[in-house]
Amino acid sequence: MSDREPQRSGGRVALADLTGAEDMAVVLRKLQDEWGPVAPVDLEPGVPGWLVLGHAEVMAVMRTESVFARDPRHWREQLPPESNLHAILSPTGRRNLYFADGAEHRRLRLPVDEAFSSMDEVRTAALVRGVCDGLIDSFAARGSADLIGEYAAAVSFLAVSGMFGFDEEQGFALLRCAMGIFGHGGDPVAALETMDRIVLDHVAATRAQPGQNLTARFIEHPAFEDDIEIGHTMVVAICAANEMLITWIAATLRRMLTDPRYTGRVTGVRRGLDDAMDETLWREPPVANLPARYAVMDCTLGEARIKAGDAIVMGVAAANNDPRVRAADELFETGNQSHLSFGVGPHACPAKRPGRLLVKIAVESLMKRLDLRLTDSEVTWAPSPWSRYPATLPVAFTPERTAARTPARV
Ligand code: HEM
Repeated sequence: MSDREPQRSGGRVALADLTGAEDMAVVLRKLQDEWGPVAPVDLEPGVPGWLVLGHAEVMAVMRTESVFARDPRHWREQLPPESNLHAILSPTGRRNLYFADGAEHRRLRLPVDEAFSSMDEVRTAALVRGVCDGLIDSFAARGSADLIGEYAAAVSFLAVSGMFGFDEEQGFALLRCAMGIFGHGGDPVAALETMDRIVLDHVAATRAQPGQNLTARFIEHPAFEDDIEIGHTMVVAICAANEMLITWIAATLRRMLTDPRYTGRVTGVRRGLDDAMDETLWREPPVANLPARYAVMDCTLGEARIKAGDAIVMGVAAANNDPRVRAADELFETGNQSHLSFGVGPHACPAKRPGRLLVKIAVESLMKRLDLRLTDSEVTWAPSPWSRYPATLPVAFTPERTAARTPARV
């Protein structure tokens, strides 16, 4: 076995140690210095895989599905039953675009692309604003809040589940499931089963009484063969959206509240929300380590000799900060969209526009209404191998004199 192949034991850094590091960029740079653009890592302790760190190499993986497939049946690894990775990396019997390749992927992707491109943005913006205002109402009179637990997580879920026609109670139930699926506590497999049940009940209810929402668009699309495919596609869309949106909202809020270029403390160079969102996509991408592709044949990537059946994780955070694409000019990111935060190739995110709209309204609604001040600059990261967002974002502000709603806690 070559020293460029993952070894069965010892020495490999685990993905969660990268996302949990105090300064992730420094740790990634060290890994890159040691291994070049592709490094052996543990997906979780004892489960080997590759982390692709170079921008060109991540693009090659995303674009070449004939070599790097999404279908987990190509993975040679047998996960132990207690592993937290089953729901994300080796789910059994999922029938959706996320785990499909080639013609099957294109068939399942078509209704998703059509549903998102025909979404009414004015209606969507109104839905998102309603969700944001409702959540802010729940803590505005208090003068303090945790912007992750009480806002970012809930906005993301209620807004996306609202696009699919779920009500608020169903939205919170789905959010609890997603937290479990992404390894933030509880049993991920049980969480996925519960989410399937909630979603399939909703598909049946929408079939009986269609409305103007994404579920109804999916039901009427001829490309889906049955309700299971519709349900599994909804689950993946809701889950893919959730973690990304929470992370993007949280990182943008932190930037707006702490970076002197955005808070306006440095006279003359105050920058706006769109810039903060773009800079966040470059520097703190919502998915730091994107799961996963599986090599369908032996091949070389960078200096690494990949074996058929190996798992490959795309290091979006590392790739966006690859000195080969990042200029030294720190304002370089503005308007430059060559970051990989939405992916490229056949699986690239189909919901860039609604995603951006949602994050912008979520941050804007808060900042227009409350004079937020972070009350703790120490950050503890929520544990996940894939993404990195603060576990809490405690703020204080001048209390509003309004009647408080029941606090929105997940
Ligand atoms: C309304 C919100 C969103 C929805 C409904 C959504 C939905 C989806 C879906 C269904 C996929 C799977 C596509 C496929 O496999 O063909 C996907 C992929 C992806 N999305 Fe999104 N997404 C949302 C927001 C975001 C945001 C905010 C980001 C990050 C900035 C993001 C980044 C990605 C990435 C990186 C992929 C995977 C690309 C790959 O595997 O190569 N998404 N999204």
